This record gives sequence, C-alpha cells and structure tokens, in this order.
Amino acid sequence: MDDVELIKQKINIVDLISEYIPLKKAGVNFKAPCPFHQEKTPSFVVSPERQIFKCFGCQKSGDAFTFLMEKEGLDFKEALEMLAKKTGIVLQKRTDDKKDFKDRLFEVNLKAQEFFHYILTKHNLGKNALEYLQKRGLTKETIEEFGIGYAPNSWESLTKFLLKRGFTVGEIIASGLGVASKSGCYDRFRGRITFPLIDGKEKLRGFSGRVLYAAEPKYINTPQTPVFDKSSYLFGLNLAKGEIRNKKEAVLVEGEMDMILSFQAGIKNIIASKGTALTEGQIELVKKYTENILLGFDMDLAGDSACRRGIEMADKAGLDIKVVQLDQGKDAAEVVREDPKLWQKAISEAVPIYDYYLVSASKRYDIKSSADLKKIGEELIPVWAKISDDLVRELYIQKLTAFLKTDEGILRNAVEKMRKNPEKSYTGLLQKTSQDNIVSLKSRRELLEEYLIALLLHPPAEANFVPNFPETIFLAEIWRQIYVLLVLYLDSISFKSRAFDINEFVLNLPKELTREVDRLYLMELDRKLLDEKPWKKELDEVVSELKKALIKASLEKLSLEIKNAQAFDKMEMVENLNKRFRDLSVKLKNL
Ligand code: CTP
Ligand code: MN
Repeated sequence: MDDVELIKQKINIVDLISEYIPLKKAGVNFKAPCPFHQEKTPSFVVSPERQIFKCFGCQKSGDAFTFLMEKEGLDFKEALEMLAKKTGIVLQKRTDDKKDFKDRLFEVNLKAQEFFHYILTKHNLGKNALEYLQKRGLTKETIEEFGIGYAPNSWESLTKFLLKRGFTVGEIIASGLGVASKSGCYDRFRGRITFPLIDGKEKLRGFSGRVLYAAEPKYINTPQTPVFDKSSYLFGLNLAKGEIRNKKEAVLVEGEMDMILSFQAGIKNIIASKGTALTEGQIELVKKYTENILLGFDMDLAGDSACRRGIEMADKAGLDIKVVQLDQGKDAAEVVREDPKLWQKAISEAVPIYDYYLVSASKRYDIKSSADLKKIGEELIPVWAKISDDLVRELYIQKLTAFLKTDEGILRNAVEKMRKNPEKSYTGLLQKTSQDNIVSLKSRRELLEEYLIALLLHPPAEANFVPNFPETIFLAEIWRQIYVLLVLYLDSISFKSRAFDINEFVLNLPKELTREVDRLYLMELDRKLLDEKPWKKELDEVVSELKKALIKASLEKLSLEIKNAQAFDKMEMVENLNKRFRDLSVKLKNL
C-alpha cells in the first residue's frame, strides 16, 4: 500500500474538518455552512462512510487531501506531509519518477495484449470468441491487424501471467487491467473479446471488452488511468490517419465494430468515438488531420443535448460537420454487413449538419400545428444563433424561413436576439459546463433519472429490495451503467441477506461512475423516505412517471408518422401504425 492509501485509512475526514468548522449530524452524513463560500443555509455535506465532502452550493468536493489543499492553500505534496504528521506516518522516499511509471503501464498493456491475442487465436479457450467474431464478419487478417483478443472467463489468469512476467500488483491495478481486492487484485476483463485501444501515435493505452452473449454492460473499458482518458480518445486513429489526410475528411462512428467493419470493407478514413458525444479532446485530435468530419451515428443527433453540445464545440473549433443519414435504428456495422456499397453511398450523400437539423425537426414536428411551431423555434433558434460563420448563418436563416413558411425578418430578429443574449432567451434545455460555476438547468426527465438513482442508493435499513424495471428507462448512459451495476450488487446482498454498504458497492466501480454515485449518495433525501413504505411508494411513482414519459414521446412520434403515412396514402402502413398507437395507449392507461 502506498503512503496516500495508508493515510486515507488512518485519517477521519469528519475529525479533520471539525478542526475548522462545527459539523452537525444530518442522517448518515454531517452538514455545515460551506467554508469555501458565503451562505446562510448549510449545503456543505461530509460523508464519514465515503470520507468525502461536497458543497451543493459552490460545487467544491473532494477528500481529506483536497480539503486541506483548498483550505490551507497547499499543493498535494504539502497536504500529504501535513496529513502524514497528523497520522504519524513516515513517508516513503519516492524514487520512481512519473515517466518511468507511465512506461511501465504501456509495457504491462503490451504484455496483456500478447496474452489476450494468443488466447483468441491459438488457445482452445478462445474458440467461442473467434467463432463470434467470424459470425460478425471479421476476417482473420482484420483480427490480426486490430490485434483483437479474448480475456478468459477467470478471475486471475491474466493477473497471474503478468505477475510471473515481473509486473507488480500496483502496476496491474494502475493500468486498469486489475481491480484491487482484499488479497491483491483480480482481472477486470473476464469472458470478453478485447480490443486494444491504440492512439494515433501507436501507443497502447488500454482495452475495451465486449461480451459474447447478450449481457449488460455490453462493453467495458479501461478506466481513467495515467495513460488512458476515454474522453480524448478516438478508436482506430492509428490505422485511419493516413487515409483521413488523403481524403481530407474523417467519418466518425460510434463503436469499435462500426469502425472495424467499415475499415475492412475498404472505407478507411474511419474512426470511432466509443459511444460518447464529441468532446473537446476528440475535436482537437481530429483537427490535426482534417477539418471535415462526417458523423455516422445511429441516434438522433438533434434530439440529444450532449450531441448538440459536441457539435456546437466542433463548429466553434472550425470543423465542417456533415451527417451520414442511416436508416432508423441501424448502426454503421449493420449497414456495412448488409452491403458495403450502401454504407459508401450513405457517406457520399452526407448532409451538412444544419440541413440535418431541419430534416430531423421535420420528421418530429408538424409545422401546421402552432404548438409544434413553437417547439421547432425553441429547438432550432438557439442552434442557429450559435452558427459562428455569418454567411452560413444567413443561409440557414433563409432555409428555416422557407421550411416554416414564416417571415424572414421575424426569424432573423429572433436569432439575433439570442446571439446577443443567449442565456436569457433560451427556454429549452440548457446545460452549462461546471467551469462556468453556474448550476446546470436540467430537464425534469434528467432530474427524475438522477433522483431515481439517488433513491436506489438510499434503501431503508429493512428494505431487501432488488429493482426489476429495465435499464432502458434511463435515457442517460451513465445512469444505465450505474443502474445495471447497482442491481447486480443489490441482488448479491439480498441473496446473502446483508445490508446495503455504499463502500462495498463503489469498490469495483470505475472512477467516472464513482464520482456520480458519490454526488447522489450525498444528496439529502426527505426524512420520511427513511421508512420502507414511503420509500417504496416514492420509487414506484418516479418509475411510473419515467415510463409514462417514454410512452408519451413514442405516441407523439407515432401520431406524426401516421399523419405522414396518411398524406401519402400508405394505408397498410397507417393500419400498422394505428395498431401500435392503440397498443401503446392501452399500456399507458394501465400504468
Ligand atoms: N460503449 C461503452 N460502454 C458501454 C456501452 C457502449 O464504451 N457500456 C461504447 C462502445 O465503444 C460501443 C459504443 O459505445 O461500441 C456504442 O454502443 P452500442 O451502440 O451499445 O454498441 P454497438 O457499437 O452497436 O456494439 P456491437 O455492434 O458490438 O453490438
Ligand atoms: Mn452494433
């Protein structure tokens, strides 16, 4: 164990913070007026179990180290020395310098890569995985070129292999290949096909792993490590960069399989974002090779606020963005499998992003209804206002005018007003980055999803409850992931009749999820929810509201589709859609 870990075990954050401000017990946590900003009602919360603090007013949060750093203005090393003195721990000399350590992580990744690839291609344990990949259409050469592998379904085969090759438990954990446990560590990737995550400079930074059968989560990734950061990583860049330069454009798809199958089919200027909406880090990466980017995602970009933010950033960064239009619900991998020519055709017919926004709105709304007209305005005017190039913005003001059959002057005014004062006039979803230090305005749906997770993280003592609604009730990927893991955990404790233990739950959680879980665990819930009955009732109500909202959205979409089908006299289609509409309405009524 290193010094930091040792100190963390010895120090109690409640005692430490109590030396500065008086803390008052509030449920499982402690509360006080925040020492970092002026406030009257206390929103500073300290959790003895998680050994962390968070202020829900100014958003400052962290552990004992961060508290001291902030409060005393220390850097990490100074805080470490201060806490070492307090706890009576003699600090070890730090000999390994950072660069050596990173090199060791690259080395351990390479060794693991050798192991996974060997198991897939040469070992009997990899047989099913190999068959699976062949079924999905991957050739032997592709498997070689991408270095795909298989992690056997065992807790320690990789760990043992790496220990024998001279790597330490610390290195295995730090690389993300192992997960810390009481007796050392166990393999993170088990029973999964592995994709080496190589960057544009050929460095092996981590892995992703896909299950062979339908199971959740479908993919897991190396967590954040000193050499891997998912948010500024693009899969396939090492192989695609040459062709991206040649073609002067990059096609961006969602997943490993989309990228690999497209590459295999000869469309080689292809990279994958691994499920995230465009991030700043990814935009920087792409910009090194081209200014033209085609988005080949299977989701509705216009309807997804994270995607819109990514697109806005890319526009600001001077990228030219087009959208490859895919048939509803199909991703690139499926289209390529069906017929590579279809995929090629879709790429060559990509439309500029703002045209795509128009198409998307026209599919979802009916411009003859005034309520819909208002919604289109709320959706598109803020987007139009953010088009950074004057000529382009003007062009799309005209296009939108024609689409809405409205007055150009009114529209131009609205866009200009929004440009001057984007915050005030924006009535739709508005998310700000935390750097702005303004709390984000979330939609009711987003808040409800969070609240549902918060409820599940606070089961009353006597509750022995495993939720069984599908994870698709959450639209946000992060809640889905947390929910799936939470159900597994609740199931295991209910099986052994043990009480909920937040530390036990976060033990194996990736860092990015732990941050969110901590935030929601520190959320103060209504006192009455400490009892099982009201808690369960609240839970049922939230679930039912979320379900209803999903169905209502589908119904709205269906009714538009029905109108369209009627307009084109497609009676059979109308019949089908009507039936679906009726079924859903019944479902809604019965909720
Ligand atoms: N992803 C992830 N973690 C998850 C789910 C998804 O990192 N829990 C990433 C993966 O890179 C995945 C991509 O997001 O490829 C898109 O997810 P999804 O559409 O669910 O999977 P597909 O790409 O369609 O996967 P496949 O074709 O293998 O079924
Ligand atoms: Mn797919």
